[in-house]
Amino acid sequence: MTDTYLHLVNSGFTKKLAKQLGLPRPTPLRRHRAGEPLVAGPVLVIGLGGQDGASTPQPDADALAQLLAGPVGTDGVRGTLDTAGWDLDVHRHVATTETVQAVVLVLSDVEHPDDLAAPVAALAPVLRRLTPGGRVVTISRAATADDAPAVAAARQGVDGLLRSLAKELRGGATANGIVLAEGVDVLAPSALGTLRFILSTRSAFVDGQLLEIGSDAGTFPADWDAPLSGRVAVVTGAARGIGAAIARTLARDGATVVVVDVPAAGEALAAVANEVRGTALQLDITADDAGQRLLEHALTRHGRLDVVVHNAGITRDKLLANMGRDRWDAVLAVNIAAQLRINEALLTSGDFTDHPRIVSLASTSGIAGNRGQTNYAASKGGVIGMVRATAPLLAAFGGTANAVAPGFIETEMTARMPAVTRQLARRLNSLQQGGLPEDVAEAVAFLASPSAGGVVGQVLRVCGQNLVGA
Ligand code: NAI
Repeated sequence: MTDTYLHLVNSGFTKKLAKQLGLPRPTPLRRHRAGEPLVAGPVLVIGLGGQDGASTPQPDADALAQLLAGPVGTDGVRGTLDTAGWDLDVHRHVATTETVQAVVLVLSDVEHPDDLAAPVAALAPVLRRLTPGGRVVTISRAATADDAPAVAAARQGVDGLLRSLAKELRGGATANGIVLAEGVDVLAPSALGTLRFILSTRSAFVDGQLLEIGSDAGTFPADWDAPLSGRVAVVTGAARGIGAAIARTLARDGATVVVVDVPAAGEALAAVANEVRGTALQLDITADDAGQRLLEHALTRHGRLDVVVHNAGITRDKLLANMGRDRWDAVLAVNIAAQLRINEALLTSGDFTDHPRIVSLASTSGIAGNRGQTNYAASKGGVIGMVRATAPLLAAFGGTANAVAPGFIETEMTARMPAVTRQLARRLNSLQQGGLPEDVAEAVAFLASPSAGGVVGQVLRVCGQNLVGA
């Protein structure tokens, strides 16, 4: 579905008119293209001392800047990083005339809300010089009840700062946060892998989010452009829409992909399988033996199974007062009960044990609720609970379970909405436009990758910072 408004306010006469009338003018987002640099401009790393804070101890900012700037392997560097694949132009200070593509605000050392003042003062003037599609990333620590009150206040304060800043940025720029659990190093592979994802155009529609890094687990891929090389992935509901985009993205990243959908979608499914050079499995995921059949197909055709993406989902909207049992049961059966049954089969099989990954599609409806969607929101809220409780079961194998919660995405599902509702729904996020299936697929591919090994039981929203429930 084309967003005609987005096109009109960015071209020719209508662009001028929109400017004169003061209409909202969303910026078309830049998305990943092979061969482009990770970040096409200077990256400013700001620590507790601001831009001139050499005298302020800021070990995390210093270590990160040193590592990102490379070369690596020198004494005193706490981690290693294949900087050849990053190629960043890292600065600790920029002149007042210089534009900046990304700012990384390292706030992991804060101990009191007062500590935020200097780095924020250093960030503020740079915001006007952020190039279109720019990035602001905070790195902070999770506030816990064990913290001293001032420490917890400072850490939680970063959350509010980040979410508000994301709402202020324009020009397709985003702000997202990385939150380190206690004991996780700022240079942990998953902290760096997440930073890379956020800095890149792969995260174009991820905005105003804070992703927690729960552990030091996670490894760097041998090739950042093919992080899923050698891995076998199953994607359910892959005949069209978001599922087909996920299959394409996982294949692009090197995975061998098994695409799954109901027999009625067999033709479209075969086309996707051909396109990604994978195999197709016609299967209704609500079948009792769906898990066994998935596994058997992956093992006999490809020799292993590493990644399962639970994408298949349905809606049967009705106000609860009018909802028959059939609508409730159908949605719960596909969107959550099938996933639980499949996961159980995988976990007890003994064949899903080499750093396995489960990524489930939730929805912002499952977080914020949506009128007419009690059944859908119950199922998607269920997905969030499921991944949180499944993650520990996979930890012994170096595995993870996470969810991706899309907001308004341009698909056949949203194309069926009434025109006015659709226009409104598109604008109700900080980026003032709908996302594309590729945006969701990029987030899934990131969570399936080796460097996301420390991201466990999380929900990554791909919603442009949807104003509902943000
Ligand atoms: P879609 O309706 O275009 O595609 C869903 C696919 O799942 C279809 O190919 C369908 O045949 C398949 N499927 C349905 N029941 C199945 C079953 N029992 N067994 C096997 N396959 C089955 O949906 P879309 O928009 O691509 O959504 C994909 C996922 O993303 C869903 O889980 C949806 O709830 C979620 N989502 C989508 C949003 C959007 O804006 N489009 C927003 C939030 C979440």
